[in-house]
Amino acid sequence: MNSQAGPVFDTARFRQVSSTLPTGVTLLTTISDGVPQAMTANAFVTVSLEPLLLLTVMSDKSRTFRQMRDSGIFAVSILSEGQEKLARWFANPKRPSGHEAFEGIEWFPGPHTGSPVLPSAVSYFDCTIDRIHEAGDHWIVVGNVKAFDSLAEDRKPLLFVNSTFGAVQPPPSTLTPPPGTITAPSTTTLPTA
Ligand SMILES: Cc1cc2nc3c(=O)[nH]c(=O)nc-3n(C[C@H](O)[C@H](O)[C@H](O)COP(=O)(O)O)c2cc1C
Repeated sequence: MNSQAGPVFDTARFRQVSSTLPTGVTLLTTISDGVPQAMTANAFVTVSLEPLLLLTVMSDKSRTFRQMRDSGIFAVSILSEGQEKLARWFANPKRPSGHEAFEGIEWFPGPHTGSPVLPSAVSYFDCTIDRIHEAGDHWIVVGNVKAFDSLAEDRKPLLFVNSTFGAVQPPPSTLTPPPGTITAPSTTTLPTA
């Protein structure tokens, strides 16, 4: 008996079940020798306030991870609801690297590291790498936040749930019912005996 053999799990099912948790969608970027690089990621969480830390989780096969590790800097743009096409583009492994991938895409250099930030995103964080932890076939990258800001207060974030992109819906209470809709009375009067 091989005592090291663990249970065999279905990784496709694991991804599917993990995807039941709704997340935002980010673009992770870095730059070295003036060459930008980016990939779509939804593994993002803020970690600490003192100091300001956040983390992301990147595949060991990622080109962006390798360039980020070497440059020691990165930026996170929180994508907005109109950026689904861009999110799909930067998730496509067949896209080119560097400047070619950014053709027709507007960006500005993050104020501290110069890593690309998308002006049409909701907000951004500009970071240096604090530390990197190995985690199976992924790397946990902890970023030291050097600058951050909101880019437009009224812009809505892009969402990802059940492997589908979506957007935040306004709360039901703000929806006006269509004309002719019978609404329940706000108080119920019990019939008298
Ligand atoms: C919505 C979405 C979220 C993703 N999140 C991650 C993630 O958190 N970490 C990761 O390594 N890959 C993630 N990916 C996959 C990468 O975007 C994809 O593998 C990309 O091609 C990597 O590019 P690179 O090899 O040029 O770095 C995600 C893809 C999508 C569509």
